[in-house]
Amino acid sequence: MSGQLRFLTGYEQLVKNLLKSLPEDDAAAQAVGGSFEYYGVLEHALLRGEGLRDGSTVIDVGCGSGRLATKLARYPKLRYLGLDVVPELLDYARRKAGRLDFRFEKVDAVRLPFDALAADFCVFFSVFTHILPEESYVYLEEAHRVLKPGGKAVFSFLEHASAASKPVFDANLAWVRERHMAGHLNTFLHRADLRLWAGRIGFEVAALHLGESKFIEVDADCAAPPAVAEGLYALGQSVCVLRKRGG
Ligand SMILES: C[S@@+](CC[C@H](N)C(=O)[O-])C[C@H]1O[C@@H](n2cnc3c(N)ncnc32)[C@H](O)[C@@H]1O
Repeated sequence: MSGQLRFLTGYEQLVKNLLKSLPEDDAAAQAVGGSFEYYGVLEHALLRGEGLRDGSTVIDVGCGSGRLATKLARYPKLRYLGLDVVPELLDYARRKAGRLDFRFEKVDAVRLPFDALAADFCVFFSVFTHILPEESYVYLEEAHRVLKPGGKAVFSFLEHASAASKPVFDANLAWVRERHMAGHLNTFLHRADLRLWAGRIGFEVAALHLGESKFIEVDADCAAPPAVAEGLYALGQSVCVLRKRGG
């Protein structure tokens, strides 16, 4: 069985268990790591800082329950495709975003169902953290195919260089020490390798931020008080922005 299928089974089961034991809103938030509003605001603000505007075309891979989609729903001319492996999360995200023209589709392969040279952004928030590096690489090749020249692939990742990633590795270690086997897949990547990948695929590295770096500017338009006030924020996972050459 491939790593992807192992992971697919894991995530689907996790969501089913959460839906059985919690009210739907709580289950949908917990399935993507919690703090639905908070991370929705930060992901939106981060993309605005990278040039997202009304009229952008955005592919949100591993969109989960719609933390980002609900924030992007405010832009009437924005084109959006959300992809995920868990149908219940797609269904929730579709309802929560409330936009009939936003597409939400299930993926069962590392492939983007989108035309070449058509997207401005291809984003993966907290997705490369849970799949194998080879799958992330192929997703980046796919992102490169669907992006317009100058378009951006934006993804968050775990790395040993970041103090913010350390608690995740420590928890992985504690699990293995206790049970003598791995638990949930939390993948760590290395920024030197990301630079190599970018060059091979045809991207330039536009930015690399540590998980603890407060580089996300939440302005009055993005803020959602009291959950998130205006100010500078860190995402908690490192962030890589790749620009497709030629724009
Ligand atoms: C931690 S959640 C993040 C969700 C969303 N990006 C966000 O920030 O709210 C990870 C998501 O990736 C999805 N996922 C896992 N493997 C995937 C794959 N191979 N392709 C696409 N999505 C995947 C999971 O179902 C889950 O919804």
